[in-house]
Amino acid sequence: MKVLAITLWVLLFFILKNTKFVVCVGICRENEQRTLESLKKEVDDPLDIPSSWVVGKDCCEWEGVVCNNLTRRVIELHISYLRINNLEWLLSLLSLENLEMYHVDLHEATNWLQVINMLPSLVDLTLSNCSLLNITNLLHHNFSSLETLDLSSTKFNSPIPNWVFNLSNLVSLNLSDCNFTGPFPDFQVNLISLTTFRAFENSFNCLLPEWLFDTSNLEHLNLRSSGIKGAIPNKSGNITTLKYLDLSDNNLNSTIPNWLYRCKDLESLYLSDNRLEGAVSSLISNLSSITNIDLSGNILTGKLPNVIGILGKLEFLSLSKNQFEGQVSELFKGRSNFFSRGLGNTSSLMELRLDGNKLTGTLPKSLGQLSMLEYFFISNNKLEGVVTESHFSKLPQLQLFSASRNNLTLKVNRNWIPPFQATNIAIGGWNIGPLFPMWLRTQEMIMNVDISDGGIQGEVPTWFWNLSSQIVFLNLSHNQFIGEVPIISTASWLVGLGGPWLMYLGSNNFSGSLPRISTSITELDLSNNLFSKGLSNFLCEAKNVSYNLEILNLGKNNLSEEIPNCWMNWSKLKVLILRENNLIGGIPRSMEVLNSLLSLDLRRNRLNGPFPSSLKNCTKLHKIDLAENEFVGGLPSWLGMRFSTLIVFILRSNKFNGELPQELCQLKDLQILDLANNTFVGIIPRCIGNFSAMVKGKNEVGDDDELNYSYFFGVLRESAMVTNKGNKYQYDTILALFTSMDMSSNNLSGDIPISLTRLARLRSFNFSKNNLTGRIPNDIGDMKVLESVDLSENQFFGQIPQSFSSLSTLSYLNLSDNNLSGMIPLSTQLQSFDPTSFQGNKLCGLPLSLNCSSNGNIPNHEYEDDESDEDEVDWFYISMAIGFALTFWGVCGSLLFKRSWRHAYFRFLDRGWEMLLAKLSIC
Ligand SMILES: *[C@@H]1O[C@H](CO)[C@@H](O)[C@H](O)[C@H]1NC(C)=O
Ligand SMILES: *[C@@H]1O[C@H](CO)[C@@H](O)[C@H](O)[C@H]1NC(C)=O
Ligand SMILES: *[C@@H]1O[C@H](CO)[C@@H](O)[C@H](O)[C@H]1NC(C)=O
Ligand SMILES: *[C@@H]1O[C@H](CO)[C@@H](O)[C@H](O)[C@H]1NC(C)=O
Ligand SMILES: *[C@@H]1O[C@H](CO)[C@@H](O)[C@H](O)[C@H]1NC(C)=O
Ligand SMILES: *[C@@H]1O[C@H](CO)[C@@H](O)[C@H](O)[C@H]1NC(C)=O
Ligand SMILES: *[C@@H]1O[C@H](CO)[C@@H](O)[C@H](O)[C@H]1NC(C)=O
Repeated sequence: MKVLAITLWVLLFFILKNTKFVVCVGICRENEQRTLESLKKEVDDPLDIPSSWVVGKDCCEWEGVVCNNLTRRVIELHISYLRINNLEWLLSLLSLENLEMYHVDLHEATNWLQVINMLPSLVDLTLSNCSLLNITNLLHHNFSSLETLDLSSTKFNSPIPNWVFNLSNLVSLNLSDCNFTGPFPDFQVNLISLTTFRAFENSFNCLLPEWLFDTSNLEHLNLRSSGIKGAIPNKSGNITTLKYLDLSDNNLNSTIPNWLYRCKDLESLYLSDNRLEGAVSSLISNLSSITNIDLSGNILTGKLPNVIGILGKLEFLSLSKNQFEGQVSELFKGRSNFFSRGLGNTSSLMELRLDGNKLTGTLPKSLGQLSMLEYFFISNNKLEGVVTESHFSKLPQLQLFSASRNNLTLKVNRNWIPPFQATNIAIGGWNIGPLFPMWLRTQEMIMNVDISDGGIQGEVPTWFWNLSSQIVFLNLSHNQFIGEVPIISTASWLVGLGGPWLMYLGSNNFSGSLPRISTSITELDLSNNLFSKGLSNFLCEAKNVSYNLEILNLGKNNLSEEIPNCWMNWSKLKVLILRENNLIGGIPRSMEVLNSLLSLDLRRNRLNGPFPSSLKNCTKLHKIDLAENEFVGGLPSWLGMRFSTLIVFILRSNKFNGELPQELCQLKDLQILDLANNTFVGIIPRCIGNFSAMVKGKNEVGDDDELNYSYFFGVLRESAMVTNKGNKYQYDTILALFTSMDMSSNNLSGDIPISLTRLARLRSFNFSKNNLTGRIPNDIGDMKVLESVDLSENQFFGQIPQSFSSLSTLSYLNLSDNNLSGMIPLSTQLQSFDPTSFQGNKLCGLPLSLNCSSNGNIPNHEYEDDESDEDEVDWFYISMAIGFALTFWGVCGSLLFKRSWRHAYFRFLDRGWEMLLAKLSIC
């Protein structure tokens, strides 16, 4: 009998073991059946209930329900995508060991935690993305058997409750994407069984808790993007069992601690996007299990760690965007015969990222032996020397080769057939030419090509234009290409994928008519070429199709004729640059469809007519530059309401006239207002103190992403040409921080509105060459960041206000040719200006040679008039290649590294800015 029973049991065991779902041996307990049946009736949307949930059918067979094989009690419940208002029914499933809910809307079940806390045998609890409202502290928790707790993707916006840290059997804890705040408890936590701790994407805003490093079984730790700051503790603790560590995208600012190099089982190490500093120890070669290392986006220094060939399992290595120096070959150092021994074949490295460092020397040939390499990034370094076929000879897997912005020369045989079929080739800034790189013809999979600034001459071969139809990113700019551009098309199989398709052909000598383009192209730069004739071939060709073009730069060509009235199909345009051509006539009516337009630059053409009313619908504009044309008439009052996001408004050197409308002051975001050299009359609007952006400045530095228009970071960001300190400057990367107001050379009269002095963030104003009168506002010293003030050639009278002396950032001042009188206030700043800044007045005191009499007045005496040599044009370009936000405010970018830029930058920056920079450069 006993034997039979055992046999039956064994048989049963096998049946159960080999059946995926619970076999029907008896049925679901009656009360549990009823509970689940009423749950089914209660949930709001019965369509989401699995079809197997049939009333009357054994609930152990319902999808997501698992019963104990013997007791027939429900031990597991898995539900998703439902809405449940109350969890109290759970209390009739007292054997529940595993409760798993994904995307179950529980926001009405406010007592969820209290209910679940009454389940006596819970082992695994998952409530992910369940819209829970809050999580409370429990005086007594019954979760002593809990092994898995997953509360991810719920915005709790509060600290983690203490009971969570008291679950001594917990093995896996997932609190990711919960917006939990810090700090962590500092008492002795009891998570002694924890092996997996995921808490990425939270807002802890605190240090790494020390107890974490005493958690002796931890294998998987992920605190990515969770607001952790400060040091990674140097104290070794017991955490060396780690296999997976992700602390990326936090504010960690220490060195890499030595204990990390003792984690022999570590497979993945992600520490990117912090502020980690110091060198990478050679001890890293101890990490014999490692497959992925990402240390990018820190400020690590020293030589590259010598890991390739030592860490035989390494597949992914990223050291991008740090400050590593020395030779790339350091990666292989000490293994000089590593490859000659034929071990090269065993390198498993598939992705190597070294871009954005300060690496020097040449590209080592050993790189060409990494036979598994698919992705290689080394752009933005300082490599020099010649690259030949042999560098690539053993790279059959290479798909992406990104090495732009180095001083490398490519010398390959004219008939070279690369061993790889790459999709991305970026060698911009290399010395490639003068002949076109014919080997590109062999690259049948190519989608991204950057051969910009390569010294390539002559025509682009026809086969390349044909090939270009499969290219989604093409950068041919800054070469010496000649000839016509036939057509810029996109392969039909790509159309509909949405793009972006980016085509940069600027700064060459392309000529002839503008090419026609396919409708899918998103960005097109043909600027600074010799294209001629009109726009109609380009604009008006296709009827009844809609173009996806968002950025169109046709500036600096020889385009002529009127702007055709063909904008109907181009309504996606965000940026339209037609500057520096020979366009004539007015602004066509159809431009009113461009309601996505952010930036319009028509500077220096021969356009005429009144201020374009077709812009009325372009209500998202950040910039309007109509300078140096022949526009006439007054400014419409609607502009205040229609251009509420305008940042740059430049009408300089036209024939605009009439009075300035009050509504101008509604332009709250305005940072650059240039109305100079027109014939405006009347007074300066009293309300100019309402330009909020000039009062408060940008709330946050670095929030100028909206001014970076291109998908390809940094290619096109907003810029403005500003006359400042008597010179013209092109502001782009620092535009977000610059403010100026220029109304010079008009016929404005009356005095300066007192409200001007409210503009505490205004850096420059120029009211010169008008008929202004009255006194200089007494509170001008409140304008704390003024760098440049020009009030010359007006009829201002009275004394120079004493508060002028507090303008410590002032570096340009011109008060000449007014009726000012009295003593020049004493300050370090004012006396340092050239006497010509004050000439043509009745002033005395330094820097003038005329001493004031004892009562501070001028002795009766005339001045000799010097001709000042202002208006010398000094074009200043900060490279457009790299974005301000990322590199400057982020991880210390090239502006701070590239000495020539930095010097050019400093040349026109005042002390305040210099101090700011000095502060930032500490990082
Ligand atoms: C119950 O059945 C499942 C699958 O059918 C099996 O994995 C499990 O081991 C069985 N449990 C017992 C106690 O037999
Ligand atoms: C948190 O939940 C409790 C119920 O458990 C509720 O009484 C309380 O109002 C909630 N607190 C907040 C801030 O929502
Ligand atoms: C996260 O929580 C903090 C503090 O409660 C709150 O200020 C912040 O807005 C929350 N963030 C998100 C994305 O919910
Ligand atoms: C690191 O960050 C912490 C916390 O933000 C700060 O107190 C400390 O001064 C920083 N240390 C360094 C070296 O920057
Ligand atoms: C490491 O763990 C052991 C027990 O697991 C403990 O005795 C020891 O104190 C721990 N060491 C540290 C540095 O916490
Ligand atoms: C680039 O390298 C060449 C020699 O290979 C050198 O003559 C030249 O000065 C370098 N240019 C820069 C900008 O470093
Ligand atoms: C311009 O805007 C007005 C209302 O704001 C709208 O009625 C009109 O259709 C728009 N015109 C075009 C061409 O989009």
